[in-house]
Amino acid sequence: MQKAIVITGGAGFIGSALAARLGAEGLPIVAVDNLHPQIHPNGERPEALPDFVELHVGDVTKPQTWAEVLARFEPEVIVHLAAETGTGQSLTEASRHADVNVVGTTAMLDALSQRGIVPRHIVLASSRAVYGEGAWADADGTVFYPPARSHDVLAAGQWDPTSPSGSGHPTPVPHKAASVFPQPTSVYGATKLAQEHILAAWCGAMRVPLSVFRLQNVYGPGQSPFNAYTGIITLFHRLARKGQQLEVYEDGNIGRDFVYIDDVVSALAAGIAEPPASRRTLDVGHGVSTTIMDAARVVAGLHGAPEPVICGKFRDGDVRWAVADAEPLADALGVRAMVGFDEGARRVGEWLIERGYA
Ligand SMILES: NC(=O)c1ccc[n+]([C@@H]2O[C@H](COP(=O)([O-])OP(=O)(O)OC[C@H]3O[C@@H](n4cnc5c(N)ncnc54)[C@H](O)[C@@H]3O)[C@@H](O)[C@H]2O)c1
Repeated sequence: MQKAIVITGGAGFIGSALAARLGAEGLPIVAVDNLHPQIHPNGERPEALPDFVELHVGDVTKPQTWAEVLARFEPEVIVHLAAETGTGQSLTEASRHADVNVVGTTAMLDALSQRGIVPRHIVLASSRAVYGEGAWADADGTVFYPPARSHDVLAAGQWDPTSPSGSGHPTPVPHKAASVFPQPTSVYGATKLAQEHILAAWCGAMRVPLSVFRLQNVYGPGQSPFNAYTGIITLFHRLARKGQQLEVYEDGNIGRDFVYIDDVVSALAAGIAEPPASRRTLDVGHGVSTTIMDAARVVAGLHGAPEPVICGKFRDGDVRWAVADAEPLADALGVRAMVGFDEGARRVGEWLIERGYA
């Protein structure tokens, strides 16, 4: 049996970039990925996956996949990325999301247990979606957790949460694992939180160090241009390149933390290099709020497309604001996001055009 780093979902956007960063010099890298048609419509090995990575095509929910992988490799490190990732889509395809994200995690753990394999470190890519609407602060500083915005609330154009005390306009609190409670408002977010809990329970019992990284909105070259359910920056580029006017939902002021792929990979690679003694949970973002209107303007400007328009539409399950507190990651691993949105957006546009995707 060969010792290896196993990356589930390793043929995806983040997995391919992470494998490239880890390089060929260390332990062999095995990507376990079913080449999901929503992300890989031609079912082929993606170009971005470095040649030195062994790709095992298989579904993480199936014991057979794990039997085949673990017959050949003993994972020293598992980076668990395989997931169904559509926040909006998860509302109407809940079982599919639960199956891959929850059962896909437990099937992996069962397979390890059955063979008595105890990895040195497990790394999970969790999501900002675990926070749902997150924490907000009243004008007097009192923190509250707004409930999910219902369809009726959104249809009434009530975008921001209202403060329970009625004391002025509340402001959102940055996501910080140590002090902001998770309270998912999408099925996707709930399955990501379930992954965190399941891994924490198993790793706690087996004394396996666990690193949980709650990623904000990751974007960059390599993000599947085919997946209609994720990757808003890629989508904006493709429309703007055609000269279309970008439509921005709600009132344009949805706040997001766009974090460039290289910065996310830096965080994951630093985490892999330095396992925690037992368990850590860190938020990965730029720590900067960009409104969707601002993002649309930047992308439209790059292609000379018309000024984006606020269309008043909304998407069930979307949260109003999601931005990381970037300090705990910097303190724990010395990693800080380096690529600003304007530069990152420019690189995505160039990549899409170069590859003929836009
Ligand atoms: N991209 C983001 O903005 C973001 C934000 C927060 C969290 N995350 C998390 O990061 C991880 C990776 O995301 P990504 O952006 O690289 O997504 P991606 O869709 O590009 O990659 C996911 C990969 O998982 C594979 N996959 C899906 N179902 C599978 C299954 N049943 N068995 C085996 N493989 C399967 C897909 O084929 C794909 O290659 C996910 O766990 C996601 O929840 C991503």
